[in-house]
Amino acid sequence: MVDVPLPRERWLGLAGRGIHVDFPFFLAPMVGLSHVALRSTARSYLPAGARTLLFTEMLSSRRLPTERIGDRPETATDASETDLVPQLLGNEERFIAASLTKLAAIHPRAVDINMGCPVTQALRHNWGVALMGDPSYAEEVVRTTVRLSPWPVSVKLRTGLDDDPEYLLDFCRMVESAGAAWITLHPRVARQGRRGTANWDYIGRAREAVRIPVIGNGDVQTAEDALDLLRRTGCDGVMIGRAAVARPWIFWQIGRALGLPDPPEHAGLPTPADAWAEGGEFHRAFERFVSIAEPRFLERDARKRINFFVHWGARWLDFGHELWRRISSAPDVSEARARATAFFEKPQRMAARTVLRS
Ligand SMILES: Cc1cc2nc3c(=O)[nH]c(=O)nc-3n(C[C@H](O)[C@H](O)[C@H](O)COP(=O)(O)O)c2cc1C
Repeated sequence: MVDVPLPRERWLGLAGRGIHVDFPFFLAPMVGLSHVALRSTARSYLPAGARTLLFTEMLSSRRLPTERIGDRPETATDASETDLVPQLLGNEERFIAASLTKLAAIHPRAVDINMGCPVTQALRHNWGVALMGDPSYAEEVVRTTVRLSPWPVSVKLRTGLDDDPEYLLDFCRMVESAGAAWITLHPRVARQGRRGTANWDYIGRAREAVRIPVIGNGDVQTAEDALDLLRRTGCDGVMIGRAAVARPWIFWQIGRALGLPDPPEHAGLPTPADAWAEGGEFHRAFERFVSIAEPRFLERDARKRINFFVHWGARWLDFGHELWRRISSAPDVSEARARATAFFEKPQRMAARTVLRS
């Protein structure tokens, strides 16, 4: 057992607003990945009784007002999801207002504003990380969302457009004074995408600059990395993206390291602790993921998401590329499942770390 005190203090300040976090490890918002099937898979590995929040992928505030919530995999939810934080991409009051009205259907705990997306389209429309280049406009977006939202509002940031820590810290203070309930920081500049390394020092500095919780994010691959990020920066929580696709049981491993009870579905089982055990667990996680995606999504949508899950998750497997090749060329979901079963008949090794290039 490790002796990292869980940062609960700043979360307690949000209890009156319906935010109860006692296990501050969060599944990141990821396009094509953070949908009901991955969330359910990740949730199945949470320590018994653990309370955390799970983010949706970014949802366009231009699109949400015109659609029926639940019709697309991006907005499909499960009735048992009482821990959701939908993420909004946008910057105009009327679209934000209409989106918030729509989102009531999924009973969010909070709403997150995306200020990190670096794709050209976001930059062109002054969404995502572009807002970090325009603090007064960004402030308006946060204030407006806070005013309109029945739920607490959080903001997910990058370092910004440039590598300027003082600018970032001022931006964090602005976000706090505009009423955000917490900040998530992925400390890479926009042009890095997800390349290079996340500068964890900035997470510690942001934590000192504001009084609201700061969630650190970037390059966590293992349970030890997550605890190391807490220890090194003093942040109030850790958000995990790519590694939570590859090893959603990372939440179980973190819980085990902290001496927390096993997830009810896995009670009494050993936590996957070596490369071979993790390889086997990947197959079980894949099965669970598919068992939710297949009945919930249209066949075409399910296949796309199963392929994407394997594309991102299998990178840590020694023969992940081969698994991806077989799954992505399968003509339908049941064949993909059969191919996965055949692949995992032979024990597979999963590395603790890989080189994250994208
Ligand atoms: C496929 C993919 C899609 C992503 N989509 C989003 C998104 O919709 N919103 C967002 O704020 N970040 C998005 N991200 C960034 C992640 O939330 C996270 O900040 C980033 O991957 C760094 O964390 P990690 O090293 O734990 O993966 C995405 C990342 C990936 C890999």
